[in-house]
Amino acid sequence: MIICIYYGIIYNGRSDSMKTPDLKEARKRTNKIVETREYVKNENLSNVGKDKKYYIKTYGCQMNVHDSENIKALLEDMSFEETDDFEKADLILLNTCAIRENAHNKVFGFLGRVKHLKETKPNIITGICGCMAQEKSVVDEIKNKYKWVDIVFGTHNIDRLPDILNTSLKNSCQNIDVESIEGDIVENIPVKRDSKYKAWVNIMYGCDKFCTYCIVPYTRGKQRSRKLIDIVNEVKDLVDKGYLEVTLLGQNVNAYGKDLNANYKMGDLLEQVALTGIKRVRFVTSHPWDFDDEMIDVIAKYDNIMPYIHLPLQSGSDRILKLMGRRYTKEKYLDLFNKLKKKIPNVSITTDIIVGFPGETESDFQDTLDVVKKCQFDSAFTFIFSPRIGTPAAKMKDNISLKEKEQRLYKLNELVNKYANINNQKYLNKIVPVLIEGESDKEGMLMGYTDTMKLVNVKADKKYIGKIVNVLITDIKTWSLNGEITTI
Ligand code: 5AD
Ligand code: SF4
Repeated sequence: MIICIYYGIIYNGRSDSMKTPDLKEARKRTNKIVETREYVKNENLSNVGKDKKYYIKTYGCQMNVHDSENIKALLEDMSFEETDDFEKADLILLNTCAIRENAHNKVFGFLGRVKHLKETKPNIITGICGCMAQEKSVVDEIKNKYKWVDIVFGTHNIDRLPDILNTSLKNSCQNIDVESIEGDIVENIPVKRDSKYKAWVNIMYGCDKFCTYCIVPYTRGKQRSRKLIDIVNEVKDLVDKGYLEVTLLGQNVNAYGKDLNANYKMGDLLEQVALTGIKRVRFVTSHPWDFDDEMIDVIAKYDNIMPYIHLPLQSGSDRILKLMGRRYTKEKYLDLFNKLKKKIPNVSITTDIIVGFPGETESDFQDTLDVVKKCQFDSAFTFIFSPRIGTPAAKMKDNISLKEKEQRLYKLNELVNKYANINNQKYLNKIVPVLIEGESDKEGMLMGYTDTMKLVNVKADKKYIGKIVNVLITDIKTWSLNGEITTI
């Protein structure tokens, strides 16, 4: 019997390899400046996936979507081929999200289906990665109840996937390889992008804000910014390849560069990316805390930086914001919001809001509604607070019933929908540029987004896919617009 790396556990005649996560370790922050290193391909593994198919299911945010683009390329470098039918796959990977309980439930629900399949096809390899893999409670559950899962790896060692997979295959063992503490920034991990026209570009990893409800600082580690030159070079390369749009990704993009010993910040990065000549620049997610004037001025100055900002509010109550550790007040949020509206012509602003945070009173909730009425957001993602093990808010006394929380969510959504619809009405009979991305869910239509991130369904010939075209808006829905291409 082969003993895998780290310490082996013998189960069902197979020797398993364990390096499991620890949230307390993950909380630690050091001043060490993170090093950058280049990805090195292990050429010996190029044929491991020959004649085999992989299926990957991605949950959660754009960061996970982009991680999956890296994972796909790593697997294809091992000769695996992608399939979108999990029943035909030899390797099934779930790239998971830990942000709320329902994301967690969805993953375990799907795992049930995979188990069923594995009963008839025992040679299928299964793996869990992403944010849930960074949670000790999840990994313990997999170790104890899902012993048939072959590999588990986290967010810090995606580049090591080929070796992790190979170890599990060679030794026929459950290989759990999760780093609690982030490692170096790895440049040039291969990527298989989902789109030929718009690309995700990581500008930083991790988060140091530690909002009390949020698991991300634990699952994604300390804030680490990529070097400006590496990001700009990646965007230049995308321009050369014909990409029209980039979205700069980070948990807290406005804090970009703060962790580096460098003399640049987010405003400088945005400007340099705009100067590459890429047609559209977007960025998510912003925290109201680090949104400085320099950044606002750069957004206003460059036509190719899109007038769209996602600015999470979370709550409109100063008391709750304090308990959440958000470090701004309702008044400060409104000041920033108004400044953005004043300085950036035609800007659309969306937000995230949590209801039912522990101890949220009716009057706290009314403060949230008040901010929504004042800001009239273009749209909002709204959530019921979900306690995450290991975060401070999970230990706070919570005496509000689920029914009450659901009622608050319902009331909030009614208001959010009302303003989304009012904002969309402004587009009726207007001509707006739209990047046509592909076919729409609506039959016979194509879809794309305006500068301001409004989803538009267009009846048009497929030859327009991958082009920015002028669209006359002919019909308004709450969450989308309909239009037709115009030459005007
Ligand atoms: N419960 C509910 N919503 C949460 N979010 C983050 N953590 C939680 C949680 N524990 C929401 C926040 C964040 C968005 C990505 O998810 O609104 O901005
Ligand atoms: Fe989570 Fe707050 Fe960091 Fe956003 S800023 S990822 S909500 S801790």
